[in-house]
Amino acid sequence: MVRSMSPSADLDGRLVRGSVSGVWSLDGLAWPDALDRDQWASSPEWLSIFGTPAWEAADERTRKRLSLTELAAFFSLTLHGERPLVAGLVHRMHDGRRDRLASRYLHHFLEEESRHMVMFGEFCDRYHRVYPMPRLALGGPDPDDEVRFGVRALVVEEVGLHFNAVYAADERLPPIVRQINALHRRDELRHVAWGREALREAVAAVDEDALPKLRRWTTTYLRQSLEDLCNARALADAGIPEPHEVRAATLAHPAFRARCAEAAAPLVARLRDLRLLEPPESP
Ligand SMILES: [Fe+2]
Ligand SMILES: [Fe+2]
Repeated sequence: MVRSMSPSADLDGRLVRGSVSGVWSLDGLAWPDALDRDQWASSPEWLSIFGTPAWEAADERTRKRLSLTELAAFFSLTLHGERPLVAGLVHRMHDGRRDRLASRYLHHFLEEESRHMVMFGEFCDRYHRVYPMPRLALGGPDPDDEVRFGVRALVVEEVGLHFNAVYAADERLPPIVRQINALHRRDELRHVAWGREALREAVAAVDEDALPKLRRWTTTYLRQSLEDLCNARALADAGIPEPHEVRAATLAHPAFRARCAEAAAPLVARLRDLRLLEPPESP
């Protein structure tokens, strides 16, 4: 059932050239000793509770604190989401299913993800904390089939790309936050190009009979991943009372759901094209 997850030679060549010419160093980042607590650490309009009653109830100090705790939660989500991706790449290296260029790109991909994880971990450890993400825990050697691996990779990367773009462009945020998001986005655009093609090939290789089960799994996985954008521990660390109740209310709130829909729009379109999600329900 499984065949090569190697995108076309043209794409591999472009990705390798992009990685070689786009190489950057963590030493080039200027880490401030502390972040200014009066400044937004991430874009307020994209905080999970923005537009909900919990937002109205929070004072300015709590809101700004939340902009840091939710940024650390977002970086933690990316960091933990990239761990199974890195493990999956290692398991696929030099397995005899790829040509020279495709093999080489996997090494660039792995090296870039490793650097991203150091960068996100450094930010979280310096200015707040790394949040555990038990749902994304590693379970030994990657047992996933190619489609599930491809979906997991694309979900963390495409949703991340959206927030990277928002934070990189927001002039209210500290330079270190904008820089991290801009650097990450640059590498991730290549990873997503690879991941889209790899997932297309993986879906083309599965039996038609396997699709309904994969669709159910993908639908649940995507929903849970978007719900991870509201993290009860990050709410609690910002000083929001009753964080679990607030999280439950936020997940059901139209403002949060509209933001999720916007952040995931390209991903959802791609997954629907591949018949990995149910078509939208008619109104
Ligand atoms: Fe990354
Ligand atoms: Fe990536």
